[in-house]
Amino acid sequence: MALIDKHVILERSPSLLLAFSLSVVTIGGILEIAPLFWLENTIEDVEGMRPYSPLELTGRDVYIREGCYVCHSQMIRPMRDEVERYGHYSLAAESMYDHPFQWGSKRTGPDLARVGGRYSDEWHLDHLIDPQSVVPESIIPKYGFLLEAKLEGDQIGDLMATQRLVGVPYTDEQIENASSDFRVQADPDADWDDMLDRYPGAPIGNFDGQPQLTEMDALIAYLQMMGTLVDFSTFVPEKSR
Ligand code: HEC
Repeated sequence: MALIDKHVILERSPSLLLAFSLSVVTIGGILEIAPLFWLENTIEDVEGMRPYSPLELTGRDVYIREGCYVCHSQMIRPMRDEVERYGHYSLAAESMYDHPFQWGSKRTGPDLARVGGRYSDEWHLDHLIDPQSVVPESIIPKYGFLLEAKLEGDQIGDLMATQRLVGVPYTDEQIENASSDFRVQADPDADWDDMLDRYPGAPIGNFDGQPQLTEMDALIAYLQMMGTLVDFSTFVPEKSR
């Protein structure tokens, strides 16, 4: 009897087939799951990644609250069409400080993982106030009301402390300076050296063009930072180092 014919024995006995399928699935499952217990970290260390600045973190909260993730993903897949359109594929490390992560699964609009620096602050402002003024066929909702939502920044330290509870490595110094760093990032005339030491590469500007600090400032600061932290001109994946 050829080996393939012996299979008939299994196929004709439901209980035998069940027992064998179960053992195959069990072995496969163990092989997939067990190695994870010996891996210390599944996220490759990448230079440049840092926790979000107080203003960026606030902007991220606005992004989540407004449901931007319903239409936008933040994950560039490693396929040629995606990489040509959006830039280097997303690394796990790039979302390591995201609680919750914003990968998303719906792209009514384009992926935003590397939108930082692609447009000017003014473009974002116009686009969020009246999308059709810059992209005539746009269906994105209007978010002009964010200009009226003033921010004091007095609770940002607490928000960062909460993020620390779930694993974001904010230092005591960062939390102590939260409120001032928060304001400084949106004020091009301020002295922002210390803020930049704590949050290298943070975009600085009067993002919404108004004197008061608003949710619009925070959201644009967040958008302008997205995908800009890792320097891909020097990045080498771990396997090829
Ligand atoms: C109803 C779905 C929808 C929602 C909700 C939405 N967008 Fe969009 N977004 C789009 C579409 C469609 C486009 C492409 C047309 C355009 O540029 O306006 C777009 C484009 C963009 C772009 C330009 C991206 C690029 O690479 O050209 C940015 C930035 C953006 N959206 C940010 C946001 C933010 C921030 C929010 C939440 C405050 C948001 N969007 C909510 C649908 C949406």
